[in-house]
Amino acid sequence: MNIKLSTGKSIPIAKDESILSALKRSGVYLVASCGGKGTCGKCRVKIQGGKYRTSASGKISQVDKEKGIVLACQTFPENDISVEILEEARLVVGDKIALAKSKDLAELFRSFGKEIAPIVKRFNIKLPRPTIEDHISDLERLKRELEIKGIKGMRFSQAFISSMADDLRKHNWEIHLAYVDGPEAIFVTSEKQTSRYGIAVDIGTTTVVVYLIDLSDGKLIDVGSTYNSQIRYGDDVITRIVHATEGGGLEELRDTVTEDINNILETIIEKHGINKEHVECAVVSGNTTMSHLFWGLNPGHIREEPYIPTVNSFPLWKAGTARLHINKQAPVYTLPCVASYVGGDIVSGVLASKMHKNTETALFMDIGTNGEIAVGNNEWLVTAACSAGPCFEGSGIKHGMRATEGAIEAVKIAPDTFEPSVSVIGNTVPIGICGSGMIDVISEMLISGVIDQKGKFVREIKTGRLRQGDEGMEFVIHKGAKDIVLTEVDIENIMRAKAAIYAGIALLIKEVGFTLDNIERVYVAGGFGNYLNVDRAIIIGMLPDIPKEKFRFLGNTSITGAYLCLLSEDLRQEAEEIARKMTYMELSVSRNFMDEYMSALFLPHTDLSLFPTVAKLLK
Ligand code: FES
Repeated sequence: MNIKLSTGKSIPIAKDESILSALKRSGVYLVASCGGKGTCGKCRVKIQGGKYRTSASGKISQVDKEKGIVLACQTFPENDISVEILEEARLVVGDKIALAKSKDLAELFRSFGKEIAPIVKRFNIKLPRPTIEDHISDLERLKRELEIKGIKGMRFSQAFISSMADDLRKHNWEIHLAYVDGPEAIFVTSEKQTSRYGIAVDIGTTTVVVYLIDLSDGKLIDVGSTYNSQIRYGDDVITRIVHATEGGGLEELRDTVTEDINNILETIIEKHGINKEHVECAVVSGNTTMSHLFWGLNPGHIREEPYIPTVNSFPLWKAGTARLHINKQAPVYTLPCVASYVGGDIVSGVLASKMHKNTETALFMDIGTNGEIAVGNNEWLVTAACSAGPCFEGSGIKHGMRATEGAIEAVKIAPDTFEPSVSVIGNTVPIGICGSGMIDVISEMLISGVIDQKGKFVREIKTGRLRQGDEGMEFVIHKGAKDIVLTEVDIENIMRAKAAIYAGIALLIKEVGFTLDNIERVYVAGGFGNYLNVDRAIIIGMLPDIPKEKFRFLGNTSITGAYLCLLSEDLRQEAEEIARKMTYMELSVSRNFMDEYMSALFLPHTDLSLFPTVAKLLK
């Protein structure tokens, strides 16, 4: 049996195989937020001809059903079938994400007052050539020379030794011996070879970013980024963990993300004419699940009570083991994790923000696919994960999507007519709404009176924009060939996510005996942190009502922390220290968290005195 796509491509499909699975096998990827469980309603395709069986889904409206629209993960062809993939269901994971080069990186590194000290160290060694009289083995010759220099206890792996003999001869016995602390010899290069490079990698649940760095001066040579192709197996860490524990899933997820990193690497290394053997070390930062998947470790126990990761502090493993396409012997430093849901990305963030060095008490929040927070100063640090879920990236929202072309990113609603005006990424016809658009539209609906503080539509208002849809009441944000709506269920989901973030912050601050007034600085990190409108986020009660001047936007601090650790031994030690020092609070089992969460399930909050600026606006 075959699936014939409207593009003309033909894809084989087995009996009882879903369309989603067959497409995936052939490298055609759809948005599959729930990982193929039939619950997200995102993997929509239109059947143009052929026999099939499909499970009834509340996620497809009657009108769409009549047009032949089905969920690809719940539809099984019974003979050859013709299929059109709907635009909003296309997943272009290979797309490069535009990312500005950070000119401030070197400046930031200098502000720490550290010398550049890469992971790989070197000795210059000139070995006497072997002769008939001096005929000890190559390894003994090297050891003898090291002993003369007073270096004892060097370890030599089989991988090092297997290439050493040829390398010594190739470089005329005048070499740099590259080694890591231990000490352990890792490779031999020519004495003349002075170019040294390293890579910093951020493995986010949604995106992967790679920095190529010149280790001689810390200069950023180039940046590459892409969506994390693991998105094919689900949007959030939980669906990825579930996939990893199913037959072959772990290897699949590992290969997928390694391929993403290698694709970026190959492009930027080739562009700059760099020999990949000269890329001699790597630093990887990611949440606990991403770090486990990258190293091929089963993350299954992370989601089972009592939520225990296999590793928090990772040994210095090699690039060959990680399957990275750089020097196989290059050491790979992984930012340490704190707990199952607070990983190396947050340790990186705290390091980059310097909150662990300052006397002022700061709140650090990384609002990405999940939501992690840390509070503290140079004396103490506490941290928690809020389980906000990926709804701000489109998951669980009828017309939700990531912040890519076609996403409504900003909305204004005229207070007298309730008519919305929207701005769309790429100035094109909208196909959905992204996180910042969702925050905008909810805050505007609240202020203009389209919804009440419970997030329910005010049925009495006079506007044609409010209507009964397949999933209950909905507000039409954009009218067109495809209407873009926000449903009451969507608002509920967004309120749950924002309530989880706010409750996490409120509880963490309370647990250390502080109030919001004690917070002198708020650092906002994460992809979402780049374009988060603080005023709007305060109106919906996602961020606390703290004076705007206290907020600092740091962008992707996971990659910044990885960059800092690539350049400095001291900063790697600081990262280890931060991870050890952080006290982790498990919110999911806390009764107080549930209380805070329930109070925050309101716009902006049940206690309006906590949001004085919003109270004024609502009056
Ligand atoms: S409904 Fe098909 S992947 Fe979620």
